[in-house]
Amino acid sequence: MTPLTRTRIAALVLIGLVLLGLAYVKLATAEETVSVPKGALVLVSPYVAGRDPRYWQEPAEFIPERWESQSVKEAGQKNIYFPFGGGVRRCIGESFAWTEAILLLATIAQRWTFKPVTVPKLEPRITLRPLNFCARAERR
Ligand code: HEM
Repeated sequence: MTPLTRTRIAALVLIGLVLLGLAYVKLATAEETVSVPKGALVLVSPYVAGRDPRYWQEPAEFIPERWESQSVKEAGQKNIYFPFGGGVRRCIGESFAWTEAILLLATIAQRWTFKPVTVPKLEPRITLRPLNFCARAERR
């Protein structure tokens, strides 16, 4: 695996697993393909969609290589992966976030490795966060 691929995967993992929103609320502004009454509040969960066994093999497993056979774009078009939302209100910072995540990870990971000291629990807020997670940083 080339370093670039490794970095890309790391960024995907970051966005896909760490920052993936648990759920967020959308306000229907018009009736679309499914019948949703105008004004209804629709709860969509990237967390649930990302762990649905109908769409993902071994959905609960940490398999970053799954992105080698299906791109983020493809998964987004199928509406099974939507960390940045979708439609006209899709996140306007997505490109910036990708660039930032890849640069940050590349900068940090070329100098440091991290060994977990505690097993993280997930704290569901607007995004999923590790709770009481501790890791030891070691210089490469
Ligand atoms: C990993 C980082 C990020 C994630 C996971 C993320 C995720 C999201 C999500 C899920 C939405 C709602 C989309 C929808 O309603 O369908 C959103 C909207 C938005 N995001 Fe982000 N975002 C990220 C970074 C950023 C950054 C860096 C910026 C600005 C520099 C930004 C600016 C916005 C704005 C302005 C909206 C509202 C767009 C609208 O309502 O028209 N986001 N984002």
